[in-house]
Amino acid sequence: MKYIGIDLGTTAVKLLLMNEKGEILNIVSKEYPLYFLHTNWAEQNPDDWWNAVVCGVKELVSDVDVSTVAGIGCGGQMHGLVVLDKNDRVIRPAILWNDGRTQKEVEYLNNVIGAKRLSDLTANIAFAGFTAPKLLWMKNNEPELFDSIDKIMLPKDYINYRLTGVHSTDYSDASGMLLLNVKNKRYSKEMLDICGVREKQMPRLFESYDIISTLKSEIADQLGLKRTVRIVAGAGDNAAAAIGTGTIGDGKCNISLGTSGTVFVSSNSFCVDKNNALHSFCHADGNYHLMGCMLSAASCNKWWQNNIVGTDDHDSEQAEISDDMLGKNEVYFLPYLMGERSPINDTNARGVFVGMTLGTSRADMLQAVLEGVAFAIRDSFEVVRSLGINIGQSTVCGGGAKSELWKKILSNVLGIRLDTVMTEQGPGLGGAILAAVGCGEFDSVEDACGKLIDISVGEEPDDALVKQYDKKYSKFVKLYPSLKCVFGDLATE
Ligand code: XUL
Repeated sequence: MKYIGIDLGTTAVKLLLMNEKGEILNIVSKEYPLYFLHTNWAEQNPDDWWNAVVCGVKELVSDVDVSTVAGIGCGGQMHGLVVLDKNDRVIRPAILWNDGRTQKEVEYLNNVIGAKRLSDLTANIAFAGFTAPKLLWMKNNEPELFDSIDKIMLPKDYINYRLTGVHSTDYSDASGMLLLNVKNKRYSKEMLDICGVREKQMPRLFESYDIISTLKSEIADQLGLKRTVRIVAGAGDNAAAAIGTGTIGDGKCNISLGTSGTVFVSSNSFCVDKNNALHSFCHADGNYHLMGCMLSAASCNKWWQNNIVGTDDHDSEQAEISDDMLGKNEVYFLPYLMGERSPINDTNARGVFVGMTLGTSRADMLQAVLEGVAFAIRDSFEVVRSLGINIGQSTVCGGGAKSELWKKILSNVLGIRLDTVMTEQGPGLGGAILAAVGCGEFDSVEDACGKLIDISVGEEPDDALVKQYDKKYSKFVKLYPSLKCVFGDLATE
């Protein structure tokens, strides 16, 4: 049988079709716009996601015997607030994971309710991108719209709702709402009260591989699929990517170099970083994970190449950076183009180049961008290390993982080997695997990953280069503390 995996990303939806042997038969991608109406805001129209999914699915299965398509699983951008009224109309554009408007609400939650209380209730503290502060923001700034909310959901849940009519979410994605008691896998009544919402407005909770329903008949007809196609609850994109890279069990690591950059460490038991610098979330395999998330990773490269240099030819641009330039760059880049989440939690932080001279070349600046992202990922990686978790190797996925150069830089900045799987499309593959498990093709997520995931072993880091990058990193970590006040100052009117 065949399974559709949907990765509802920030710049595009990527869909893939996988058979029961884990072979990828087709990949389709459809872009949609991202709106930055004010500094720090990031919004999208849920209908744009839906239209892209409809177009994408039709194209994906256009040459396929549709009676062989058994299931669909979606991995989606996390934390986004999607709100529907009682007539199922979307009330306002979705407020995304990298939107930084909720600074006041985050301060209220972390300082007035208190970080310790939040951590006791949910295993996490508030970050601007999380869903709960966005609900409070709506309550404070759009009270009439807030009062008209009938259903609250996350981005991929909106797709599942349109596909099935079932108002659902899964534990991995729900963890990022700051409304879930992660350890016990139920909504926190106290957190719902703090945000002024009721449990009946919340989606029903499922494990990621649970079937929520089959396709609505009119949607099956629209997509050209059978009405018997089963939809699983799916997962947040990072948990889905972890499934797609076989990151399950204790202490396994996956790094995603997508629009965001994440360090994801799986665990068989509930775990929490006592400083809450890392998120403590449920995993899509039924267990748990820790995660650090930087807000702008591959998007820094895209911004530099497309907006500043004015090219789409990323490969030629990167070809200007030769191996002997690695570890020697005098230019540093702070990749905080949308503020930053892990570990500094600062919506005022901004992108900065430091160290240019008249001799600085365009290639040096691109290299600084790639290295700056790698250093910021190391920031989260160091928090993982500080918890005594020893990671000797990781998989890497996301658009940035297509670049051999970037992987080499990241591997040497972290001092670990980086492996890849058969596609860099981790969340889509994870979604398809979850669908296959839900449809009974495999006994469990573990069984499916064991049979389907094919790891391609990467290069070992080079000792001398690791040392050079250690020195560079020790300089990089001094930059943000020196600029923190400046960022605060720039943000005041
Ligand atoms: C994770 C996070 C991002 C988005 C990107 O906490 O906010 O990785 O899920 O799609």
